[in-house]
Amino acid sequence: MKSPEVSEALYALEAHRSDFHDVTIADLFARDPQRFADFHVAFGDLLFDFSKQRLDRETRKLLIDLACAAKVEDRRAAFFAGEIVNPTEGRPALHMALRNMSGTPMQADGHDVMSDVIAERQKMLAFAEAVRSGALKSASGETFTHVVNIGIGGSDLGPAMAARALSPYVAPHLTLHFVANVDGADLADTLKRVDLARTLFIVSSKTFTTLETMTNARAARQAVIDKLGGAAVAAHFCAVSTAAKEVAVFGIGEDRRFLFWDWVGGRYSLWSSIGLSLAIGIGKENFEDFLRGGEDIDKHFVEAPLAGNIPVLMALIEIWYRDFWDYATQAVIPYDQRLARFPAYLQQLEMESNGKSVDLAGEPIETSTGAVIFGEPGTNAQHAFFQLFHQGTEIVPVDFLLAVNPIASDPEQHHLLVANCLAQSEALFRGRTQPEVDAKLKAQGLDAAAIAALAPHKVFSGNRPSSTFLYKSLTPRTLGRLVALYEHKVFVQAIIWNIDPFDQWGVELGKELALRLAPLVAGPQAATQDLDASTAGLLAHLRSLAGT
Ligand code: F6P
Repeated sequence: MKSPEVSEALYALEAHRSDFHDVTIADLFARDPQRFADFHVAFGDLLFDFSKQRLDRETRKLLIDLACAAKVEDRRAAFFAGEIVNPTEGRPALHMALRNMSGTPMQADGHDVMSDVIAERQKMLAFAEAVRSGALKSASGETFTHVVNIGIGGSDLGPAMAARALSPYVAPHLTLHFVANVDGADLADTLKRVDLARTLFIVSSKTFTTLETMTNARAARQAVIDKLGGAAVAAHFCAVSTAAKEVAVFGIGEDRRFLFWDWVGGRYSLWSSIGLSLAIGIGKENFEDFLRGGEDIDKHFVEAPLAGNIPVLMALIEIWYRDFWDYATQAVIPYDQRLARFPAYLQQLEMESNGKSVDLAGEPIETSTGAVIFGEPGTNAQHAFFQLFHQGTEIVPVDFLLAVNPIASDPEQHHLLVANCLAQSEALFRGRTQPEVDAKLKAQGLDAAAIAALAPHKVFSGNRPSSTFLYKSLTPRTLGRLVALYEHKVFVQAIIWNIDPFDQWGVELGKELALRLAPLVAGPQAATQDLDASTAGLLAHLRSLAGT
């Protein structure tokens, strides 16, 4: 149920939307020379430009009114105070404590968590440094050269994304690998690339019950036993989890067990010991810098006025499109090859958090909620799906991400990358009009009939919105800032939609059904009478093709 204040703010925005019938983003720029100055926020060396969005000062005011009506500031205060913001699981969500580098008290449900957080971080970082420096040896007394993180969802995407993003910081003698899929090919292909005698496995699972992770962990353990003997397992495995007992049952000793807490959601856990593989790769100081980047944004989120608050603006812009323009998607296009996994990371962050259709009271939500998030690095994306962005019937708002200075890559090539990124956001909003196309074709010597036939295909309607994030370079601190910006964006959206962004019940049904089907797939006789006709038919066909 929406409060009367929220309903009123939504009505005001609905009425305001019609102001944009005949106004394009290009018109907004033409009318207002101050537009860039007024529609960007600088935060340190990071700049958020939202001047190419389809909004004006009145829109921003009305969106901020909506945030106030939804009590964003009160809910933010409750979130940082460790109150239960995840009511369906009865938990706070306090991942900000993991990057609270000052150590000032932070309460989770009335209890200060900081001494536990600091102790566990120190334990994890000391272990990471020992692996990285070579002080910690394998069973055969050699240094580790390969680290394999076994985990899925939040126990995979965060460290995998960050390890790729920060690859220039990864020690050259170490290679980081990530195994997630229950498809045995994932582990098998990884095992081919490692030297088992010099490989450390990290079993990362908040619950330590996840089918995919436990299956892969057992298979990896068996591979170690087969090649190095049972006694080698202790030296080659460690674990990150909230479930100390289950880790012990798996056979991993206390000194190799790195814990976190149920108030850390899986998709927010990169800041915890779930970042162990990353910490081994980039080292303690860089890992702490990554945490500092997250902390920077926590402070900004708490202190900046709403109209200059980057995550609040990000959230409101997406709500403007989602709920008033019916744009169902949001693309994230990093012009930064090393952010190749960032869109996948954001898919879990945003879609698992805000892919909900009932509110906190369990009532159906009357507006639309989470958008479909997708993306690939530019310029590759330009040659794949940008055609639809420019001329398709679907409007896809885009977030562009771009570094000013490249790290460990050719500066001349970087100029081309920058030019392409800026060109795309300009082309999207500007488009190309019929007279412009006609003139161009005429200059090429085409006659009137040829121009009439070709011109419609070459017209770009333009008026397609985007934001650009510009940062100095992709350092650990910058990455921390980017991740935390999106986290808080998702939280603000959830406040306005009045949903629980910290649960994920929607993934449970598929898990349950897979467990029910597994014996039917593996067993000699399939008792398919309780299945729907399609699933039963597919199973029968599977069996006939497999020859069982
Ligand atoms: O996909 C559901 C989910 O629970 C995610 O939220 C989580 O990140 C992932 O599974 C892995 O869970 P775990 O870390 O407990 O293995």
